[in-house]
Amino acid sequence: MDGALESNTRAVFDRYQRQQEKNEHIFSRLVSLIDEEYFGFNPGGFTGLQVLDAGCGSNANASYAFLEKGAAKVTSLELGEEWMDCAARRLSKFGPRSVLIDGSVLNLPFADAAFDFTHCAGVLPHTANPRKGFDELARVTRPGGHLFLTIMGTGNGVLYRCINHLRELYASDAEFRQAIDNLDGRTAKEAIDWLLAVKGQNESPLLEGEDGFIRSLFDDDLFVTVRDRFQAPTYHEFAFTERQIRTWYAENRFVDVRRVSRYTKGLENLRRFLAPMYLHYGHPLARFWFGDGCIQMIGVRN
Ligand SMILES: C[S@@+](CC[C@H](N)C(=O)[O-])C[C@H]1O[C@@H](n2cnc3c(N)ncnc32)[C@H](O)[C@@H]1O
Repeated sequence: MDGALESNTRAVFDRYQRQQEKNEHIFSRLVSLIDEEYFGFNPGGFTGLQVLDAGCGSNANASYAFLEKGAAKVTSLELGEEWMDCAARRLSKFGPRSVLIDGSVLNLPFADAAFDFTHCAGVLPHTANPRKGFDELARVTRPGGHLFLTIMGTGNGVLYRCINHLRELYASDAEFRQAIDNLDGRTAKEAIDWLLAVKGQNESPLLEGEDGFIRSLFDDDLFVTVRDRFQAPTYHEFAFTERQIRTWYAENRFVDVRRVSRYTKGLENLRRFLAPMYLHYGHPLARFWFGDGCIQMIGVRN
């Protein structure tokens, strides 16, 4: 692993990806997000493909989905080797169709045109040089093959302008940093218990269902997302735009470049009310909060 950025980034993600792998509900929710329709493929469209899952995470959830959907071989790549025990717990059942590789997306250890389908979700914003990473992904995708990319590009949305400021606070203010680092389902429960107890002492009882509803908004799954926005060493200020990513594809000879989106099913927390905005990323409400949104794009190498 090269340098402090990569090892710090890996440490942040390894912690929560291991939790996700252990939690059956979360793991199967993540796996269920990958289907042919999402990428605009026909049913069975992954059958026989050589797939690269670059920056697969310790839980390698997308690799698992591609293997289940019939890919001939899935190469799962992450920084270092320490994640492999976790990924192998799920992937070993696929035998030699699953290959785990230590490597960086900035310097992929593969020949040109080695893959039919290259998948890289949420990885490039955490690297020292996202554009170099993209060029590497393009290089290993064969002519006629697909490159799929997810990249957070939300810098011009209200939420992400706030997060950019708060990331500075996270770096400089120990009390704020500790509050964020401690944020999980348990601390949220304690806070809600306290709020509702004091409210109960001063007002009439809660309406039926109110207690359960409030509690359902905050869980570990939610706080993983919140903590990641602060703890990940870099996000390049969430400043990527759809236009810029389209230029990257065009300059690497990709055609039929499409932005895709999906309804994120199976969320049990507050984010279930955000899911409509993830699907309709161009809606004025979505643009207000999320700017260019989480850019999910696919193109065909020419
Ligand atoms: C937000 S997580 C996404 C994980 C997985 N792709 C998913 O969608 O669940 C970002 C991942 O990128 C990995 N990563 C960061 N820099 C990388 C690099 N230079 N090469 C490969 N992976 C990298 C991190 O270790 C982390 O697991």
